Amino acid sequence: MNQEYITVSHLSKKFARKEVLKDVNAILHRGEILGFLGPSGAGKTTTIKILTGQLKPDSGTVRILGTDCSRIDESLYEQIGIVTDTSGVYERMTVYDNLKYFARLLGAPLSSIDPLLKRIGLEEQKKQPAGKLSKGQTQRLILARAILHRPKILFLDEPTSGLDPTTALEVHRLLLELKEEGMAIFLTTHNMEEATKLCDHVALLNEGVIVEYGTPEEICLKYNQVKRYRVQLKGGVRHTLTHSPENAGKISHWLEENEIETIHSCEPTLETVFLEVTGRELQ
Ligand SMILES: Nc1ncnc2c1ncn2[C@@H]1O[C@H](COP(=O)(O)OP(=O)(O)OP(=O)(O)O)[C@@H](O)[C@H]1O
Ligand SMILES: [Mg+2]
Repeated sequence: MNQEYITVSHLSKKFARKEVLKDVNAILHRGEILGFLGPSGAGKTTTIKILTGQLKPDSGTVRILGTDCSRIDESLYEQIGIVTDTSGVYERMTVYDNLKYFARLLGAPLSSIDPLLKRIGLEEQKKQPAGKLSKGQTQRLILARAILHRPKILFLDEPTSGLDPTTALEVHRLLLELKEEGMAIFLTTHNMEEATKLCDHVALLNEGVIVEYGTPEEICLKYNQVKRYRVQLKGGVRHTLTHSPENAGKISHWLEENEIETIHSCEPTLETVFLEVTGRELQ
C-alpha cells in the first residue's frame, strides 16, 4: 500500500459565522496528485492554509507525514514546499542568488541549483535580477524554490493561473515528472482540463463542501447516465444520438455503408459534471 502523506478527516472551518469548509475529507498518497477544484470562494486556499499549518481548523483532523497539522514545525517545513499567489521573489537579487538564499535556509546543497535552473528553463536568466523576469519566468522561479529541497509534498495554489499555454504546459510536464519521482502534490485549480490531465484524484469543492471525489474518469463516467454519440456523416450532416436500439441500428447502417466521417461518444467533462451538481460555472 502506498504511503498516506496527507489525511484530512471531517475538516470544518468558519470565518466569523460563515462556514467556509464543511466536513471535508481527503487523502493524498506518495507519488499522487490530488486536485481541489472549485470556483472562486469555494474554500481552496483556506484548505491549503490549514494543511500547511497557517490556519487552525475549527474541527476535524489533518495529518501530514504522520504529524497533526497543529504541530507543524521546522522539521516538517523542510519536507514540504508551498507555492501560493503571495509567494514572492527577492527582486533585486539574481535568479541564482534567490535560489542560493533559500537553499541555505532549507539546508539544500548549492550544487542542486544549476541542474534545477536547467530543468525549469531559467539557465539563461541565472544572473538576471529576479525583478526583470516575465510573469511565467517568475512563476517558474517560485516553483523552483519550492522544490529545491526535494520536499515530499508540494502544495500549489493555482500554479498556472495567468500563465500562457506554453508555460502552463511546461509546468504540467514538470509536475508529472516530480510525481513520477514520488513527490505528492496537492493543487488547487479552476481549470478542469488541467485537473483532468494532472490529477489522480480530484475533489469538486462548492461553497466549502466536497460534492464529488474520485478519479476524473470515475466522476465523469458516473454522470454519463444518458449515453450519447456525435456523428458526422460524409456529406457534412451532423447528428447527436442518444443510446437506443433504433439509433444503434442507424449507426450500424451508416458504418456498413461507410457513410461516417467522424463518431464520438459525448461523456461529460469535469466542467459539465460540476455544472450539473452545483448549477454553477467553474470559472
Ligand atoms: N481571513 C479570512 N477572513 C474572513 N473570511 C475569509 C478569510 N479567508 C477567506 N475567507 C472567505 O472564505 C471563503 C473561501 O475563501 P478561499 O480563499 O479559501 O476561496 P478559494 O476557493 O481559494 O477562492 P479563489 O479561487 O478566489 O482563490 C470566501 O468566502 C472568503 O471570502
Ligand atoms: Mg484561492
